Amino acid sequence: MKFFLDTASLKDISWAAQAGLIDGVTTNPTLLAKQAGDLDPRDVLKEICSLVEGPVSAEVVALDTDGMVREGSELAKIADNIVVKIPMTEAGMVAVRRLATDGMKTNVTLCFSSVQCLIAAKAGATYVSPFIGRLDDVGQEGMDVIREARVIFDNYQLATEILAASIRHPRHVVEAAMIGADVATLPADVLKKLLLHPLTDRGLEQFLADWNQRVARAKAAV
Ligand code: E4P
Repeated sequence: MKFFLDTASLKDISWAAQAGLIDGVTTNPTLLAKQAGDLDPRDVLKEICSLVEGPVSAEVVALDTDGMVREGSELAKIADNIVVKIPMTEAGMVAVRRLATDGMKTNVTLCFSSVQCLIAAKAGATYVSPFIGRLDDVGQEGMDVIREARVIFDNYQLATEILAASIRHPRHVVEAAMIGADVATLPADVLKKLLLHPLTDRGLEQFLADWNQRVARAKAAV
């Protein structure tokens, strides 16, 4: 399973990329607005693309097909690893087809059902992003969308990658991985939590204490 970082924070992306923990990045208008402030968002995206080798999703804000294609084509010029993020709408699906025909990679966002994922895949999306956490928030089982989409994509040998999004905690990552999602995009705090286990800390402390005792004994014997 590939891990993407779900952020536009240059600090978090630098940390995760240098640690070799991520295979790409996803942004959205909310995340980019937070990071960019008064800066040109294109400059922020360019910087992100230089920090990671893998795909970087950048979302259009136009709602009509022509606008999405125009904006997507401009975003794709920022760097070779840009993936154009398109919302799951009728106009968006037409845009995905056009962008795919022009050789651009797309990530269809705001998917909340497996049939939306199927439609996006049929349109030629490179990735589909079902939002697990937001479904959980409204009392639905977000993971069911990943489960159903995996079966459907396998049934029809669809090459579109399932990108588990809106991930809130490590258990989401484990379940998505067990189902076979191709990618999970994680906020930095969730990625950090994946590295941790209290027994790892306790075990390391014990190993070092035992080793230091041995060193002290050896010194005393000299
Ligand atoms: C995906 O690409 C989105 O940016 C993201 O996962 C949304 O997550 P949220 O529901 O935590 O905002």
